Amino acid sequence: MQFQWYPGHMTKAKRQMQEDIKLIDIIIELVDARIPISSRNPDIDELGKNKARLILMNKADLADAKKTEIWSAYFKQKGCFTVCIDARGKSGMKLIQNAIMEACKEKIERDRRRGIKNRPVRAMVVGIPNVGKSTFINTYAGKASAKTGNKPGVTKGKQWIRLNKSVELLDTPGILWPKFEDQMVGLRLALVGSIKDELLNTDELAVSLLEILLRDYPGAVEERYGTKEKKAADVLIEIARNRNCLKKGNELDYSKAAALVIDEFRSGKIGRFTIEMP
Ligand code: G4P
Repeated sequence: MQFQWYPGHMTKAKRQMQEDIKLIDIIIELVDARIPISSRNPDIDELGKNKARLILMNKADLADAKKTEIWSAYFKQKGCFTVCIDARGKSGMKLIQNAIMEACKEKIERDRRRGIKNRPVRAMVVGIPNVGKSTFINTYAGKASAKTGNKPGVTKGKQWIRLNKSVELLDTPGILWPKFEDQMVGLRLALVGSIKDELLNTDELAVSLLEILLRDYPGAVEERYGTKEKKAADVLIEIARNRNCLKKGNELDYSKAAALVIDEFRSGKIGRFTIEMP
């Protein structure tokens, strides 16, 4: 299957991000915990060199908890601070606050030596589309936060959200584009819903998904759909039958079954899965 991406406006977005990054102390990068590498663009490493970095493994509620731990250790070993979250809830926010302060320790210390007191750490959220940036900003900033207007020395029009006395967040996230290094990356992005479905062949996608699940999570598909077949394509036929996916004339509708499987995977109904490992 061929996956495509249209980077038309991405050059502009990248330039904007380069400008924004100059204004901040720490980059908060969101990745999808189910596909932590495929859902990031490694260009951020270059764009954000010299800046403190925090990786948030978002949608951890949909990912395999054991594998999330392995990924956390992987990122830590690469020198990144890491927190796993479900951006729809507030539970990870204390950990995030602590991680930001820890990651910016040197800057805070530098300020202190120069006699600058209480200057908030400035942060910016970045990530590829659909990874949960807006959700995170909404949850993290909440209602209580006040927007601070234009300030001297800050590019006109930039809005900062004052989170608390020690952190300010740029209100618009930086959008990165997914990087299609190989077809597997494209496949994983498609599976988690980060590529427009109109561009995809749902039947092939579902068969690829079933192959991955049958291999990495034996028993999960069988339990959800009552299937017995071993080969992914046969399993899809069985699912169409078991779930009564029919076309006019009572023929089995494989596309309907495929859409069902993909949808139930994305919403976590089949289980919590991580489909990429370090
Ligand atoms: P973006 O700004 O990075 O593009 O992403 P956004 O916040 O819009 O989030 C994309 C979708 O992911 C939203 O679903 C949002 O509710 C969901 N989401 C964000 N964070 C989490 C999380 O930690 N766990 C889970 N389970 N879902 C999360 P949506 O509005 O229903 O959009 P869609 O699912 O129809 O694409």
